Amino acid sequence: MTFSCPFIIIVKDYFVNQTIVAFPRFLGERFELLGSVEIINSQLIGTGSCIPDFVLTNAMLETMVDTSDEWIVKRTGVRERRIAKNTHTWELALGAAQNALADAGISAEELDLILVSTCTPDTNTPNTASVLQDKLGARQVGAVDINNACAGFVSATDIADSFIKAGKAKTVLVVSAETLHRITDYTDRSTCILFGDGAAAAVYRATGNENVGIQSTFIAADGSGAEYLYMEALPVEDPFAAERPVDPKARFLKMQGAAVVRFTAHAVPLAIDTALQRAGVSADEIDWVVPHQANLRILDVIAKRYHLPKEKVYVNMDRYGNTSSASVPICLDEMRKNGLLQAGQTIVCTGFGGGLTYGAFVLKL
Ligand code: ACO
Repeated sequence: MTFSCPFIIIVKDYFVNQTIVAFPRFLGERFELLGSVEIINSQLIGTGSCIPDFVLTNAMLETMVDTSDEWIVKRTGVRERRIAKNTHTWELALGAAQNALADAGISAEELDLILVSTCTPDTNTPNTASVLQDKLGARQVGAVDINNACAGFVSATDIADSFIKAGKAKTVLVVSAETLHRITDYTDRSTCILFGDGAAAAVYRATGNENVGIQSTFIAADGSGAEYLYMEALPVEDPFAAERPVDPKARFLKMQGAAVVRFTAHAVPLAIDTALQRAGVSADEIDWVVPHQANLRILDVIAKRYHLPKEKVYVNMDRYGNTSSASVPICLDEMRKNGLLQAGQTIVCTGFGGGLTYGAFVLKL
């Protein structure tokens, strides 16, 4: 059946109380109706993580830079973090993905899209998602990397949700994997105390039940703050110059921490407010806020702003530090495994960081 109309077709079927979405595929100048699917929320059906064994404690950092356990705990909330020595990012991604697929009870062959968020890929090409597609034995589906720093998981979830809601994918794997030690300068006390390695994954699947799944998403970026969190990928240089000096510290992340904190003061509430508003959810309906684990003080500000008891803002940064885009899904997986996530709950996830990027989504379980 063909149409010359380039619009998504949405039909409310009052007889069965279902909304039907049909989407056209571009075929030259014509569009073909591929079929119809029910709307459609993106339900979280599985999570998994892969946490490295090696523990880097504050006491160990005291021997490396001029710092103290007391300063680190008071200013950040971090007590220890994990380091994936001699490990590729894709290896962490694979472990997390396999655990999430097992948790969801599905095989890799059922995936219609693979999204990997990382700011620490092993290679610029191939992307990590393609490596993962092969290692998982998934079908030859879309496999895309997202580099959105600490907002990476929220951004990837937004994309996964968009594919599912558009009817372009039924089952999407989102993996956030980071080996931040590779971009951390262990002579810089203002950054090396914060970061850790880890990976976690989520499987989203289309459901016709509008009461569960992703209720809303919001992502944004303010590139004017790029310099506050900065890491060079490729040097800008004259390729024909007689000398091409290599700066051994170029690959390390540089951060103006106080400026990032100032940014989060307006960006995080904006992201959460917008996601809540789009979902039609009020703050008192929130069961959990699952924030990027950047700094305990930022998390305390979130609790105050939404009049939530501190216990409703999930924290594990004391054990893992800041794992960039992996931090939100690591929390989700830990909460799920510990029985903290229950059917019927409403949770808000938020990410913010380099870019500067920020975002949030509301999920009903
Ligand atoms: N130990 C002891 N003293 C330290 C340390 C340390 N590890 N680090 C900094 N200091 C000192 C500074 O030198 C400074 O000393 P001075 O006053 O003599 O100059 C003093 O402590 C205060 O420094 P600030 O940078 O103002 O400290 P602040 O309270 O802002 O805390 C921190 C620093 C923890 C980095 C904080 O700014 C922060 O958490 N920022 C946000 C980080 C973040 O959210 N990043 C985003 C995500 S990362 C990503 O996207 C990959």
